[in-house]
Amino acid sequence: MMKKMGNYKSRKDVVEKHYEWERHMKAGFVQLEPLFGEVDQNIEKAETLIDNADADLLVLPELFNTGYVFTAKEEVAELSEEIPQGKTTQALCRIAKKNDVYLVAGLAEKSGERYFNSAVIISPQGYVGTYRKIHLFFEEKLWFDPGNGPFEVYDIGPYKFGVMICFDWIFPESMRVMSLKGAHIICHSANLVLPFCQDAMKTRCLENRVFAVTSNRTGTESRNGRSLRFTGKSQITGPTAEVLYQAGPESEEAGVVAVDLSRAEDKQLNEYNNIFRDRRPEVYGILLNDR
Ligand code: ACM
Repeated sequence: MMKKMGNYKSRKDVVEKHYEWERHMKAGFVQLEPLFGEVDQNIEKAETLIDNADADLLVLPELFNTGYVFTAKEEVAELSEEIPQGKTTQALCRIAKKNDVYLVAGLAEKSGERYFNSAVIISPQGYVGTYRKIHLFFEEKLWFDPGNGPFEVYDIGPYKFGVMICFDWIFPESMRVMSLKGAHIICHSANLVLPFCQDAMKTRCLENRVFAVTSNRTGTESRNGRSLRFTGKSQITGPTAEVLYQAGPESEEAGVVAVDLSRAEDKQLNEYNNIFRDRRPEVYGILLNDR
């Protein structure tokens, strides 16, 4: 069993922690069923699961604190929070510090009169940044503005991670951009309702030679005649398409795997093929055309 690393205070502690990560970093997800609108309860449930996980990096589902099935713009306005002042981001900062863990978590963001389906990036030292979902799914288009990117990568000691939210997976450009920017692992905060993503993530990881953590939610949310069933099966995927861990379809759990993220630096498929150097951007021009 690997030891739980305590809060690091000095440069020496940071160096030791990074040395530890060069051999294995404990990365994973929290899978849970949020109750719509019960923000305090949802944060409390996430905190219990995080407190009991032994991890360096944890991804929480999309909109983990509010639930997903909004039925009116007023609900979005009421439940969205400013980042980083809002209570969810503040609670996550406290939880990250307590557990000496990086967190990526989905929540509804209020910014002036606009709302975004966002994920916050939190380090053990506090708030780091926000990713606003770029590719909105279904009725999200009624409630949220799309983010305009760009897809960023965040330094985490010797490694980098990228962030995307749910439906971003169906656009291979999302993970490609973050991988070309040097991401070793993609933090994928999700509320999946279609059955395709978990299999697709094997290909996404293989074609970019990166790791990914997909954190999904569970349960059925029925509100005002609208009902969605979320599929669970949160997944940690490796750079050669291996499923390192998959949660059950209904369970509430933290799934954590020790990974050697340096494997994501090797883009060499065989002695002739390097999947990044072999790309031919000069024949991909249409990818940059407007719709
Ligand atoms: C999704 O993007 N929540 C399916």
